[in-house]
Amino acid sequence: MTASLLTDSLRKRAALAGRLLAWYDRNRRDLPWRAGPGESVDPYRVWLSEIMLQQTTVATVTSYFADFTNRWPTVEALASAELDAVLHAWQGLGYYARARNLHACAKRVTTQFGGRFPASEAELATLPGVGPYTAAAIAAIAFGQAATPVDGNIARVMARLCAIEIPLPAARSEAGRLAARLTPKERPGDFAQAMMDLGATVCTPRRPACALCPWIDACNARSLGRAEEFPRRPAKRARPLRHGVIFWTERTDGSVLVQRRPESGLLGGMAEFPSTDWREEPWTDAEARRAAPVAIRWRRLPGTIEHGFTHFRLELTVWSGRIDSHPAAILGNARWCEAGALSGLALPTLMRKVARHAMEHSGETGT
Ligand code: ADE
Repeated sequence: MTASLLTDSLRKRAALAGRLLAWYDRNRRDLPWRAGPGESVDPYRVWLSEIMLQQTTVATVTSYFADFTNRWPTVEALASAELDAVLHAWQGLGYYARARNLHACAKRVTTQFGGRFPASEAELATLPGVGPYTAAAIAAIAFGQAATPVDGNIARVMARLCAIEIPLPAARSEAGRLAARLTPKERPGDFAQAMMDLGATVCTPRRPACALCPWIDACNARSLGRAEEFPRRPAKRARPLRHGVIFWTERTDGSVLVQRRPESGLLGGMAEFPSTDWREEPWTDAEARRAAPVAIRWRRLPGTIEHGFTHFRLELTVWSGRIDSHPAAILGNARWCEAGALSGLALPTLMRKVARHAMEHSGETGT
């Protein structure tokens, strides 16, 4: 029988939650920030993991989590660390604003709350870097509050269970309302993590493993034979195409010129190679030369880099220049990064594509 969470009785909803928890007890992922059965939960570790997991995968977070908790085992230890040390340890996780907020939050918890995280969702949401999702996740997992975080995995599980026909992003709040009706008073933190695990391992975006799902006979999308079609996606809007020129500036010792993007906005705080604005009109060669970060001989490399952002597509041409000595004037806040150190920078995917393209085409003749 399929689920209809707005009309199902409390007993039926409790039975559904119970089935998921029983599945979780057998199949939960063994993740380093999770307390084992019977172990007490450390809110610091829960908070730290949730901040790290914002926009980063479990696989990437695991080693950073071990490093942070070794160096700073408590929120007080993290609060008294130098900001630079925290930013450095964060390198590779991207979005430095998150690392700054992490440090600010540790300080706030230490000074304002005596080193103990507040337990309520509302108070948690006042902390730097803690949005509604993270506040609900910490309240449920660390403090056993009946809060309901909704991340992408949970939204997908609910969209399928209830065959939510509203497209994303509105489907997310509907998924949240329905998930809240399922959240049990007992073990709400395990329930949230069970939904996350179900979404990550069984109810996957493509080819969900419905045969392994504890909710197979309750799932509306499955009974319609359309599991993979949920969550519904909005009709694709045509995204405008923007153009930019990006400069690969190499010194004879192999160092490359890099700079940090502004903290707020697209790819905030991440590293990049100097670039023009990204605008709708293509750049002429003469304009590109005038926008270069140093006055040297530049050549346009063959081909372009294509990249999709949410609201626009980007086409970059890469210009390459070599420089022998330290130039007298470099535009903006750029600095030299040694060739071997590039991989340690928080370079977004787009910039990795640029680096690969530049390295492949260096040595060829262009314009
Ligand atoms: N993604 C975000 N938070 C998570 C958690 N606590 N467990 C697994 N995946 C997650």
